Amino acid sequence: MTPTDRSLHPVHLPEGWSPSSWRARPAAQIPEYPDPAELAAVQAELRALPPLVTSWEILALRQQLAEAQDGRRFLLQGGDCAESFAECNSEVISNRLKVLLQMSLVLVHGLRKPVVRVGRFAGQYAKPRSADAETIGGVTLPSYRGDMVNAPEFDPAARTPDPRRMVKAHARSAMTMNFVRALIDGGFADLHHPEYWDLGWVRHSPLAEEYQRMVAAIGDAVRFMETLSGSEVHNLNRVDFYTSHEALLLPYEEALTRQVPRQWGWFNLSTHFPWIGMRTAALDGAHVEYFRGIRNPVGIKIGPSVTPDQLLRLVEALNPDDEPGRLTLIHRMGAANVAAKLPPLLQAVKREGRRVLWVCDPMHGNTEATANGYKTRRFDNIRSELEQAFDLHAAAGTRLGGVHLELTGEDVTECLGGARELTERDLERAYRSSVDPRLNYEQALEIAMLIVRKQGQLAAPAGA
Ligand code: PEP
Ligand code: CO
Repeated sequence: MTPTDRSLHPVHLPEGWSPSSWRARPAAQIPEYPDPAELAAVQAELRALPPLVTSWEILALRQQLAEAQDGRRFLLQGGDCAESFAECNSEVISNRLKVLLQMSLVLVHGLRKPVVRVGRFAGQYAKPRSADAETIGGVTLPSYRGDMVNAPEFDPAARTPDPRRMVKAHARSAMTMNFVRALIDGGFADLHHPEYWDLGWVRHSPLAEEYQRMVAAIGDAVRFMETLSGSEVHNLNRVDFYTSHEALLLPYEEALTRQVPRQWGWFNLSTHFPWIGMRTAALDGAHVEYFRGIRNPVGIKIGPSVTPDQLLRLVEALNPDDEPGRLTLIHRMGAANVAAKLPPLLQAVKREGRRVLWVCDPMHGNTEATANGYKTRRFDNIRSELEQAFDLHAAAGTRLGGVHLELTGEDVTECLGGARELTERDLERAYRSSVDPRLNYEQALEIAMLIVRKQGQLAAPAGA
């Protein structure tokens, strides 16, 4: 039986697993709710609500990720570090979609292969924190853990974890999904009209000319094909868009974990593609336990402290049958660490012949604080980690099949450098993130162009 057959015809659920078996394991990063009865009532309410995605969409994405593993697609995964309830509005959602569509156009054009588009949205509302509490002026309160858990204001009521926020997060996620689906169904992603994706505030971008040249070349190619065939090329007006979030708050994820007719096993129907964050990736922890039993494709963040042996045990726990499309490893080492830390992991996975999709997150290992008190990332470090990652995979004989980014379609100044060479002084102008600094439109587009250039270099014969 091939692995694909096996996924259609199950043998059994993973031994000892149920949607709640994570409760017997140490659960990092999950808040203490003051009223367990209220938490249970909220879970019951969530269980009765409709799912946000469907099993067939999840399985279609899994197939696309399997193709990315074979080098036939490239994964673009991006969005905010954390969504906020206040920014669940049409402008923020459509601007983010525009940036991702423009980036994917650059990638499709330059890499000559289809792109798997996955947003960090419609559920990215819970955040891991390095400290459980925060002290200001002698007052200690629980840390802010994302809008799904509590509110950022520093007062006792705002910071107390409130389970009702899960219901609100579910509703906001549904609204976001609904709007994204409607935009795409209505032709927003139509390649005949890339002008729909222009962002109003972008005027004289240093990258605009190169991007416009690409758009014109694609327009010419589309018209040429339509002239040849004598009809409109219809499948250009639809693209697939999938959702992902860090599945951190397990009481929420559990309530959205469902069985569906004509499929075996359990699906997390809150998102297509959940991932495990670096702080919750312990082999014997609650998150790995929960993830091992769901049928979604899953991602796991790999930081510089993970050893080859730990990684192989995680791969075994999360994908014991080596099923295609099931497991994505998102490495986030930092520009200074990647050359030392990544190759042993690549070699170990290759030596064991395990099937994974390798993705680079060049953001989370490159966070630093500026002298004027901002959490930022230098574009040069982000670029450097990504470029090194391509080279290290090429040297190891493995394939970097995607990128995971924090970005926004808003005109923010949160990361330093890039085409406009943003400085520490610029951060004061438009720093809006309540958590991690995001790439703005130009910086994001520059990353897409850089991926294309890098892949082009690697594909060119030596000495050319
Ligand atoms: C994140 O993706 O926002 C995040 C917290 O990442 P990591 O788990 O890799 O630190
Ligand atoms: Co982040």
